[in-house]
Amino acid sequence: MTSTVPPLPPPSSPPSPLSNTEIELRLLMEAIYLKYSYDFRNYTVASQKRRVLHALAQLGLPNISALQEKVLRDPALFGRLLQYLTIPVSEMFRDPAYFLALRQHVVPILHTYPSVKVWVAGCSTGEEVFSLAILLREEGLLSRTQIYATDINPASLEKARQGIFPIEAVRGYTANYQRAGGRSSFSDYYTAAYEAARFDPSLCADVIFADHSLATDSVFAETQLVSCRNVLIYFNRELQDRALGLFHESLCHRGFLGLGSKESIDFSSYSQRFDAHSKPERIYRKAT
Ligand SMILES: C[S@@+](CC[C@H](N)C(=O)[O-])C[C@H]1O[C@@H](n2cnc3c(N)ncnc32)[C@H](O)[C@@H]1O
Repeated sequence: MTSTVPPLPPPSSPPSPLSNTEIELRLLMEAIYLKYSYDFRNYTVASQKRRVLHALAQLGLPNISALQEKVLRDPALFGRLLQYLTIPVSEMFRDPAYFLALRQHVVPILHTYPSVKVWVAGCSTGEEVFSLAILLREEGLLSRTQIYATDINPASLEKARQGIFPIEAVRGYTANYQRAGGRSSFSDYYTAAYEAARFDPSLCADVIFADHSLATDSVFAETQLVSCRNVLIYFNRELQDRALGLFHESLCHRGFLGLGSKESIDFSSYSQRFDAHSKPERIYRKAT
């Protein structure tokens, strides 16, 4: 008897074996995305793993599956997990050579524009934003600059808006500021009270702090400078390309892009679309 049912195709080769941890991580990131719309699916496995294992230890949970189950049912726990996943670590004038290069090689060109827009993407708790605001004020540009400071972590954005930083960190910030070509006395910019330094609120009076994800959102303004430091390092190649695409689209003709000291556009799809402007400091200029 001849059958009308076609034979089964040969089984496709199995995907390269993933470890249990990798499977659990993927499921956790998918659950977070489906439940809370935060998209960590294209962060490097190494960074996901480091952050999640640290969170497990802090939250007293035995494994990633247990964390997933709790996160799905407990938005407050997700809020805590978000603090571990987003790595809210920053400092003022981090990598002083970067800020010195901005001051010496980018600001003179920004001066040629009637007004300037700067996007600080992944601004964390605001240290980078205050550093740029101080630099731009010293260079006579702040009053005609609009800064957009964005991040996905609402708690970090709230801290950034307050502009209050631990006093014990300020000594290091002072040294960074001087190495970044600071023109004043750093203490002019803050008032010390108890354990905290409150930075001059007029520095960020016109900064727009906003929730924006490089993984899911789109471009919102035309800018002359995008500073996105120590963020791409956590993204896989695909997500790095997406973020670089947003920056490319946002930047005006010959606009500037500044990345972190361990980040580069060299192996991205955008490597031909930017020129190196100050290569050691990872400052690029839109080419096409
Ligand atoms: C290590 S901090 C860098 C802070 C600052 N740019 C600096 O260099 O000091 C990384 C920041 O990127 C933010 N971030 C992570 N994923 C993001 C995304 N998809 N979109 C926007 N920001 C993101 C995190 O919330 C965190 O504040």
